[in-house]
Amino acid sequence: MQSALTGSPPPSADLDARQLRDCLGRFGTGVSTVTYAEGAGSRGITISSFTSVSLAPSLVLVSVGRRARACAGLRGAPFVVNVLAADQAPLALHFAGRPQSGLPVPWVDQDGVPRLDGTVAWLRCRPWRAYDGGDHILFVGEVQDFAFTSGDPLLFQDGSFCRPGPRIAVPPALETKGERTS
Ligand SMILES: Cc1cc2nc3c(=O)[nH]c(=O)nc-3n(C[C@H](O)[C@H](O)[C@H](O)COP(=O)(O)O)c2cc1C
Repeated sequence: MQSALTGSPPPSADLDARQLRDCLGRFGTGVSTVTYAEGAGSRGITISSFTSVSLAPSLVLVSVGRRARACAGLRGAPFVVNVLAADQAPLALHFAGRPQSGLPVPWVDQDGVPRLDGTVAWLRCRPWRAYDGGDHILFVGEVQDFAFTSGDPLLFQDGSFCRPGPRIAVPPALETKGERTS
C-alpha cells in the first residue's frame, strides 16, 4: 500500500491488463499512421495515440511502444502524422504489423518526409522533444506544415474500426454573452 501522502498510484501489476485495455478502448479515437524516412526507404506505424498539445508553439504528440521499430526510427527524425480516412482501414492494418499483400501504398514526398495520399489530414513535424512514457516513448513534434480536407475520418473504438455516426444535436447555450437567462 502506498502512502497517501505521496499520492503515488498502486503498482501497475495490481491492475488486470485485459480489463484496463477494455476500459481504455471505451475512449474512441481517430486513427493515424506516422510516416518517416528510414535510410533510403519509407516506413510507417499506425497509432491511436495522436493528440494535439499546444498551439503556440504548434506541438503534437504521438506515443510509440519501445519495442516498435518506429521507436528507433523516430528518434530525432522528422515525421508526418497522417489522419486516415474511413476507407483506409487496410492501410491502418498494413502499418500495424499486418501487411496487406497487393495493397498499393500511396506514398507522397512532403518536403523530404514521406506521407500518405488520400488521408483527411496530415501534419509534417520536426522533432521537438521525446519523453519517457513507461513502455512507450512520447514523441512531441513541432508542426511545420499541414493540410486537411473534408470526408469521414477512420475511427477506432472497443477494438474495432468504425466511421462517424450521425451528429448529435445539443440544446442551445443557456447563457449568451451579456444576456443571462436565469
Ligand atoms: C488502431 C491501432 C492503434 C494503435 N495505436 C498504437 C499506438 O498508439 N502506439 C503504438 O506504439 N502502437 C500502436 N498500435 C500498434 C502498432 O501499429 C504495431 O505495433 C506496429 O506493428 C508497430 O510497427 P513497427 O514495429 O514496424 O514500428 C496500434 C495498432 C492499431 C491497429
